[in-house]
Amino acid sequence: MDFEEVSVSQFTRLLHPYPTFLVSSVGRDGRANLITIAWLIPVSVRPPLLAMAVRRERYSYGLIVESGEFVVHAVPFDRAREALFCGRRSGRDVDKIATLGLESVPGRVVKAPVVPEVGVAFLECRLQQEVEAGDHVLFIAEVVAAYTRPGFLEDGVRDLAAAPPLLHVGGPRFATTALEIVEPEV
Ligand SMILES: Cc1cc2nc3c(=O)[nH]c(=O)nc-3n(C[C@H](O)[C@H](O)[C@H](O)COP(=O)(O)O)c2cc1C
Repeated sequence: MDFEEVSVSQFTRLLHPYPTFLVSSVGRDGRANLITIAWLIPVSVRPPLLAMAVRRERYSYGLIVESGEFVVHAVPFDRAREALFCGRRSGRDVDKIATLGLESVPGRVVKAPVVPEVGVAFLECRLQQEVEAGDHVLFIAEVVAAYTRPGFLEDGVRDLAAAPPLLHVGGPRFATTALEIVEPEV
């Protein structure tokens, strides 16, 4: 097999596509923000923990450290525009929620708001730990509430047809999954 060499500085490109999330947080002044995040994974079931890599330069970094809370929104495919906008603009310069004309409602448990239109599944989180990780900080957070739009899960498994996921392919490109499902026998 002939391999194609890739610079290790480009290694993240080899891991795409990533599911795309919008993460809300709120500052002491009560102004809420949304950041687009692709580097987010579950890391524990009991207790329920997830990890998310955020650059310290992001406006959201300060809001999350200050409030200790955030809400993860799993973004549907039809919200690619909002995801790119929130991933290209900073809350330092623009009120992204207002500019996009989005409504937000209070979180059930946390102070950060929920923006129903840009999410199909919602995870309210409380920051537990901050781990230095090169040019990003890894936030480890406990999921303190989780809920979905009706029909998101079918028999406990995601119904892709009900809510096609937004996958980040790279740069400004997004995709979604094919609806073909396999269930291999092993
Ligand atoms: C698809 C996509 C995924 C992104 N994933 C991350 C990520 O995982 N971590 C991060 O720090 N920034 C990520 N970004 C960049 C931030 O979303 C971007 O810098 C944003 O403008 C920061 O907003 P804020 O300054 O209001 O917090 C991503 C951007 C896009 C478009």
